[in-house]
Amino acid sequence: MHRFIPALIVLTAAMAPWTEARAQAQAERIAVGRTVAESWCANCHLVGRRAQGPAGDAAPPFAAVAALPSTTEMSLRAFLRTPHSRMPDYQLSQNELDGVVAYILSLR
Ligand code: HEC
Repeated sequence: MHRFIPALIVLTAAMAPWTEARAQAQAERIAVGRTVAESWCANCHLVGRRAQGPAGDAAPPFAAVAALPSTTEMSLRAFLRTPHSRMPDYQLSQNELDGVVAYILSLR
């Protein structure tokens, strides 16, 4: 049994840079998403973490969207890929879509 422990330590150490790279990629995705949200979505949605202040009545703040139990990465992708009558069809690039989804979920 104790022969496994050094192997486990080596494995954990080997994975650390990978975990870090993933965290960094996620941070970059969120930053892209925040830029998209602030430039294209903020006309109607409150985009920040604090859902306060004046905004469109109809459009839910992103923090409130993030807090919905029904909100998942899948549901956001599906919503943003289909046209909605009260929302412009932005035709987001894959990168922008990934970013905006990551950003909204980061408000949880
Ligand atoms: C012209 C105003 C307007 C703009 C701009 C806009 N939205 Fe919306 N959005 C709405 C309205 C109104 C709703 C609620 C009605 C509906 O579901 O169609 C909504 C709903 C949503 C929902 C669904 C919330 C839920 O209840 O699940 C998401 C997600 C969303 N918007 C994301 C975005 C993103 C991302 C952008 C920017 C790329 C954006 N919106 C830009 C008006 C807008």
